[in-house]
Amino acid sequence: MYPDEFPRNAWYVAARSAELTEGRLLPRFLLGDPVVLYRTGDGSPVAMVDRCVHRQLPLSLGRLQGDRIECGYHGLTFDTDGSCVRIPGSSRISDRVRVQTFPLIEGDGLVWIWMGEPNSADPGQIPDHQWYTAEGWTTAAGTLHMDARAQLLNENLLDLSHLSFLHPESIGSPEIAEIPVSVSFDERTVTVQRDMRAVECPPFFTRVTGIDESIDRRQIAEFFAPAFHITTTTLKPAADGDDSRMARQKTMHAITPETRTTTHYFWSVSRDYAVQDQAVTDYTLDAVAGVFEQDIQACEAIEHIIASWEPSYPLELNIKVDAGPLQSRKIIEKMLTTEGAHAGARAQDRFTDTATRAAAKAWTARAETLRA
Ligand code: FES
Ligand SMILES: [Fe+2]
Repeated sequence: MYPDEFPRNAWYVAARSAELTEGRLLPRFLLGDPVVLYRTGDGSPVAMVDRCVHRQLPLSLGRLQGDRIECGYHGLTFDTDGSCVRIPGSSRISDRVRVQTFPLIEGDGLVWIWMGEPNSADPGQIPDHQWYTAEGWTTAAGTLHMDARAQLLNENLLDLSHLSFLHPESIGSPEIAEIPVSVSFDERTVTVQRDMRAVECPPFFTRVTGIDESIDRRQIAEFFAPAFHITTTTLKPAADGDDSRMARQKTMHAITPETRTTTHYFWSVSRDYAVQDQAVTDYTLDAVAGVFEQDIQACEAIEHIIASWEPSYPLELNIKVDAGPLQSRKIIEKMLTTEGAHAGARAQDRFTDTATRAAAKAWTARAETLRA
């Protein structure tokens, strides 16, 4: 079945860099926990639990005093390391009065958070996503939200046969679903590749590349467990003897659980064609967001069905194209097992209640208000 828990000893995208501006507190539920993100005066990002240890008011409802957060209820003040540095009316503060903070790594336009065992946070585990800012490439990026569990999107992205049926008017063509894939994997990654020869050029690619003839197209879907994907698309006219007209596209998808059954979706499309053409960027922004909304609608509809069966789970048929998605489940289940019973108990405690989901929804709305 689809895992509805998530490993905590892993990096997840918490925000886009542009979302963190000096002087602003950004509230966001991540992995079922309320988190407040902000930037210090020297530009460093900070993330801490968005809950005052006194009477639980979200710290994001307080105010920044320099680099510190002053709670908006009774004035307890917390430094960037989570330590409490002021309790009004008290001259002595125990070292134990603190809120949890989380390791962050920022790069290539993204802010990554580690919400597990802090000593295990190895920056080397962050997948390479250099195309976001690479020379010779242009990127269009957006952020979406989904009322469904993250694993549904993980599996959507590892089975691109759905392009033929869910996105026929944009990036799909009829042949995709019929052409077999090759699947490879290791402990933390899954790669699904499909090579297509002399197939129809889908409408989106004709519009952005100008190629209006049959194409050779390659798709490589790479999954970096538990929450990041790079989908590589290359295409060129099938009649071409060389690669001089080849168009390359790297689509990145950061799938960050908000709660057990809601998800943040940070995406970007980097391309090495029409790099100076703003009209292509604008069209890509619009068209790709529309394609991903179709994926989200499908996942939300599936989540609705799953919810109607819980606590049991409907039987599923597995077919050839499921090899990649099933491998992603195995990897995530193994990561959860490795994290042990503690993680399971914590997940049960946090994610079985609808209150968490409702709170996260309210927070999403609040974050949007702040962004406005
Ligand atoms: S709730 Fe934060 S100081 Fe009282
Ligand atoms: Fe899709």
